[in-house]
Amino acid sequence: EQQTEEVEVFSTPSYACQRRTTLDNHNAVLTDALSLLAENAELSGEDGRGVAFRRAAAALKALPLPVTRLTQLGGVPCLGGHSLRVIKVLTGIFGVGVKTAGRWIGEGILTLRQLRDSGPTLNRAQRAGLRHYDDLNRPVGRAEAAAVAAVVEAAAGSVLPGARVTLIGGFRRGKQTGHDVDFLITHPEEGREAGLMPKLVSWLDSQGFLLYQKTNSNSYLEAAEGPARPASNMDRFERCFSVFKLPEEAGRGGAGAGGEGGPRPWRAVRVDLVVSPVSQFAFALLGWTGSKLFERELRRWAGHEMNMCLSSHALYDHRQSRYLRASSEEEIFAHLGLEYIPPSERNA
Ligand code: GTP
Ligand code: MN
Ligand code: MN
Repeated sequence: EQQTEEVEVFSTPSYACQRRTTLDNHNAVLTDALSLLAENAELSGEDGRGVAFRRAAAALKALPLPVTRLTQLGGVPCLGGHSLRVIKVLTGIFGVGVKTAGRWIGEGILTLRQLRDSGPTLNRAQRAGLRHYDDLNRPVGRAEAAAVAAVVEAAAGSVLPGARVTLIGGFRRGKQTGHDVDFLITHPEEGREAGLMPKLVSWLDSQGFLLYQKTNSNSYLEAAEGPARPASNMDRFERCFSVFKLPEEAGRGGAGAGGEGGPRPWRAVRVDLVVSPVSQFAFALLGWTGSKLFERELRRWAGHEMNMCLSSHALYDHRQSRYLRASSEEEIFAHLGLEYIPPSERNA
């Protein structure tokens, strides 16, 4: 009971964006379990419950000491283990969501082998996902992220001299591994970045670096957003979901298993590319650095506490009925009335 009370004594501020959460997690066992429960809830479409679990996990991550009693989890309902495992294998395929997995399970397809053998027609993303299943489920290390960065920088420099490539996502927060590598690309001269993504993609493709890519074009128009429809989400940039064919450096080796016939010449890596105009760069940088929960909490803080609307494009102040400009993350935190939190402390 004492330990449970200690958690309450620690009682951290309620928004994760008010807290500093490093990678130094003293409660990994607990937060892993809570993350599993969150995934469980999300898989069954119970997003609200999922977020609740994620908030709980994040609160524990910020504690300076391990929690030793689980009494606070006493009433948590759990789902059956097997169905969860099946869903996890199938949704572990890039391009396969819960809906598709559910449909396949309904058709009696429970394993990758069954999917390969008797499989239904797969779309382009799913075919790439199935073909590179092991690679795409193997964490990407920092050295590999750096190798991808070198390729993306070469591509950007070649198709648009002066373009700036910034590593975002988990690696910018200091993580040692990630499920993908994320980049934000801009050009210091507003407008020069327009149409950059197709050029970038065709350069990468021509050099043999792409196993799969899907590009979405930019659809963000500030005038159209307006006060009536404030900038609501972050999906309007030129964006590319891709799978890179990354050459493995000699000596770095393959899957780490060793003795599987020596190092492979390349591995598949998930890469996300986002292009933003320089005027929106700070917002894009903040919005794509994560963590996802940190982002969610920033937007919740902006809305509930500041009567503002934050997206990866802009910050709108409803009280003043105007957009607040910013050319750095520090300025955005200041607009939001929050103490600046550097990327390495946004691991909520
Ligand atoms: P790992 O890749 O697992 O290491 O973690 P990560 O934090 O890098 O996650 P991820 O690559 O999925 O996302 C990085 C950031 O981009 C997060 O802050 C997300 O909120 C943001 N992001 C990624 N995908 C989307 C998307 O489709 N829409 C929006 N709005 N944001 C996204
Ligand atoms: Mn990432
Ligand atoms: Mn990503």
